[in-house]
Amino acid sequence: MPAVSTIVEEILDLKHQRNAILLAHHYQETEIQELADAIGDSLELSRRAQKFDGDVIAFCGVWFMAETAKVLNPSKIVIAPDREAGCSLVDSCPVDQLRAWKRRHPDHVVVSYINTSVEVKAESDILCTSRNAVDVVNSIPADQPILFLPDVNLGNYVKKLTGRANMKIWQGACFVHATFPARRLTSAKSEYPGALVAAHPECPEDVLRQADYIGSTSAIIDWCVRHPGQEFIIMTESGVNHSLSRLAPGKKFHFVANEQCNCSECPYMKRNTLEKLRDSLRDLTPRVELSTEMMERARRPVERMLALR
Ligand code: 13P
Ligand code: SF4
Repeated sequence: MPAVSTIVEEILDLKHQRNAILLAHHYQETEIQELADAIGDSLELSRRAQKFDGDVIAFCGVWFMAETAKVLNPSKIVIAPDREAGCSLVDSCPVDQLRAWKRRHPDHVVVSYINTSVEVKAESDILCTSRNAVDVVNSIPADQPILFLPDVNLGNYVKKLTGRANMKIWQGACFVHATFPARRLTSAKSEYPGALVAAHPECPEDVLRQADYIGSTSAIIDWCVRHPGQEFIIMTESGVNHSLSRLAPGKKFHFVANEQCNCSECPYMKRNTLEKLRDSLRDLTPRVELSTEMMERARRPVERMLALR
């Protein structure tokens, strides 16, 4: 097996040969984040993909993120290290179920979380991410009924913040965040008295109620870095520790294990490895391939979201 330094050199060489950019989500393994041209949450990485003018986007995250990059860059090659890097939220909203729902409720505007398949995006009116979901919902006239999909916890959180009574919520969930038990957070708080709690809005309501701050992955990182507090309990995937420890080296960060894996890792995000990244840059596969029509239909709701500041 080649040493990590050899694989890193191969990746850097291939990246140069391919005129590629490497985008990494905060939940990626540290060694992947260290090689990335940009690390970010799903909104930041979509914006970065939108501005890209090279030839190949190597997207280290999960498949729906690579699909979104392709939708925004139809003429570029978009690759991802592992085709099986899925997402439980994507699985919770099959497109045929959404089409059936729309037939029964033709008057509803469909607001879809970016954690959806490209087919679901194509059926949506506007997208949102965990960072801008409140702004997206507030951009829709108050008397317009909405379907928010697929994340029930994010949906409930947005409904509470916007006071939107005419918002129906799909019952999907992220199996990493939705299985963080409130009682484990309560015991972490007694173990680390004085620690502040930052949580991702995909967490259950009884976890969010105990949080001092709720936000997207990047927003959590920014908040912890800027806050004068020195100790934090982080209710999201532990990959964010890479940026937290780099940007706030003197502070302490604690993670709580969920009931899904008794850890705080997303098994889909962790499918990507340096070896798979090297192979995908070498072979230009797994590659996102979508029909022109599908990309055009999915691009409209993505661009509507990106047009909102
Ligand atoms: P962010 O938009 O906060 O990066 O979240 C994406 C995600 O998959 C959270 O589980
Ligand atoms: Fe999907 Fe949850 Fe993994 Fe994010 S953490 S990619 S929402 S399964």
